[in-house]
Amino acid sequence: MYRFIDYYHNEVLLSFDDHPFSKEPKHVWVVCRHKQKWLLTKHSDRGIEFPGGKVEANETALEAAIREVKEETGGIVHNIEYIGQYKVRGKEKVIVKNIYFARIERLEKQDGYFETYGPVLLDKLPENIQTNKQYSFIMKDDVLQKSLKEVEKRIKIR
Ligand code: GTP
Repeated sequence: MYRFIDYYHNEVLLSFDDHPFSKEPKHVWVVCRHKQKWLLTKHSDRGIEFPGGKVEANETALEAAIREVKEETGGIVHNIEYIGQYKVRGKEKVIVKNIYFARIERLEKQDGYFETYGPVLLDKLPENIQTNKQYSFIMKDDVLQKSLKEVEKRIKIR
């Protein structure tokens, strides 16, 4: 279990165990690979980030993850696996988010990408994400680097 402070000075607990904080988390976040690149989205307020969002009523967290990838990038998930979970003690509420790793088989062009400008494909994630204003705050704490390590540990990146 890791504990650290995020961009907004909120406490974050992160673990790669099986659903340590909640069996039914209300938020999801998906680290995506497509054709040997990282697939992200550009959120209209927050900036560039891996896709994700809230679990809707009558939907599992896994279903939400697949849906959010499609809505925000046009990406069709080929396979997806649970990686870990984190809990953010926000100013007003506590949120729990599942982290997934997905391989994307293809990108479908869409008329709109919900609250985002659509897909962003990167060969490499920049070194300076923490200070880069183009990137979302959710990419600026230890969740990103630790999740990438976990992804690499389990799956050979192609
Ligand atoms: P609304 O229903 O729109 O109000 O959303 P919500 O309050 O249920 O969830 P929201 O996504 O707004 O998250 C609440 C707070 O949790 C945010 O203001 C953030 O500070 C924090 N938060 C959400 N997602 C993340 C994340 O991925 N990383 C970090 N560090 N904080 C997050």
